[in-house]
Amino acid sequence: MDTMEKITALTKRRGFIFPGSEIYGGFGGFWDYGPLGVELKNNIKKAWWQSMVYDRDDVVGMDAAIVMNPKVWEASGHTQAFTDPLVECKACHHRFRADKVKDVCPDCGGTFTEAKKFNLLTEVYIGTVEDNKTKAYLRGEITQGVFVNFANVVNSTRVKIPFGIAQVGKAFRNEITPGNLTFRSREFEQMELEYFIKPGEKEAQETFEYWKSARMNWYEDLGIKKDNLRFRKHEDTERAHYAKDAVDIEYQAPFGWSEFEGIHNRGDYDLTNHKLTYKDEAGEFTPWVIETSGGVDRTALFFLIDSYTESEDRVILKLHPKLAPYKVAVFPLLANKEELVNKAREIFLKVKSQINPVAWDARGNIGKRYFAQDEIGTPFCITVDFDSLEDDSVTVRDRDSAEQERVSVDKLTGFLQNKLG
Ligand code: GAP
Repeated sequence: MDTMEKITALTKRRGFIFPGSEIYGGFGGFWDYGPLGVELKNNIKKAWWQSMVYDRDDVVGMDAAIVMNPKVWEASGHTQAFTDPLVECKACHHRFRADKVKDVCPDCGGTFTEAKKFNLLTEVYIGTVEDNKTKAYLRGEITQGVFVNFANVVNSTRVKIPFGIAQVGKAFRNEITPGNLTFRSREFEQMELEYFIKPGEKEAQETFEYWKSARMNWYEDLGIKKDNLRFRKHEDTERAHYAKDAVDIEYQAPFGWSEFEGIHNRGDYDLTNHKLTYKDEAGEFTPWVIETSGGVDRTALFFLIDSYTESEDRVILKLHPKLAPYKVAVFPLLANKEELVNKAREIFLKVKSQINPVAWDARGNIGKRYFAQDEIGTPFCITVDFDSLEDDSVTVRDRDSAEQERVSVDKLTGFLQNKLG
């Protein structure tokens, strides 16, 4: 099996990612996150919010509606320009993104039609009267919800330029060719910062460079291998309709270097189109915007791929403890010895009152339990054995080194918190 097949199998088997609506044959480009997947995604969003909002004093958050007045998408240029080039095979009629295929159909070898522009916005119909429903769109980027609330945020808070608005939420694109597990989905989550600055090339360039390195550091600090990360500047011909300048942070995935996150200089494109301005002592002007736009699903997928390690007969997900779905697992050495189970249960509840989430496992033998926890990235396993009943201490095993140390129960929670960071 290649890496993507192994990751796909692992994520399904252990409850990270399931094909959407699977019992009805699935639905292309839609995915469901299971018990471990939701923890991983929440941890990613928490770590992002911590670094982009809580660790700063110049960024506030918001959460806009997914469906907006369709005039928003006219003004933002998306109804016109949010397109990918589409070609159709003349023989089998399968459709592809023109920039992702060579000259002939990969499915049957047939020739293609001329490329035409295909709009990615997903239409929805709102209203109760059949003939009089309003056509609206599921948002194609979460961004516009921030721009249309620019004045609301300025008027309701103490923000002063330069400042940012952060948001995390679902976006929808009618992608021509979804694929590579969740990499290109039709429903996905974005985490974005719109950072508003005074107009001008110099300030924009400096801010752009600042956010490029801040965002690259974030991925590195959470453990993505440096060699698997790079910047790639967009050619003039590939930039989105709103961008004056664009750089992607790319990841070296098993299917090639791929976009992780986009950093864009949107200039005054959006606020001008929405006829919004900002006033301070110096007068009234239209701020420029530097944007950082990452995907929660891509981040989850690339962290899973990057942390996937095979060591002899084991699979270990070497996820950063902040991202690991379970932080700790607690086991009684033997499941059929009541005093061991009771003691382990007591310790499980004690740890769980301070650290979340904690797994409980009493199935199979200890080796199998370690194996099962390594495979989902649990940083520490605690075993309660017969000595624990005498000396009130437990064995703590480290996922990455497999080293074990004895820790007394009264120091256990502090010991783990310290290691987990
Ligand atoms: N507001 C700017 C914007 O939306 P983008 O480069 O089109 O920029 C930003 O998207 C990020 O959203 C991407 O880097 C990626 O992480 C994520 N993303 C975009 N399309 C996606 C898709 N079809 N499936 C999963 N993630 C996607």
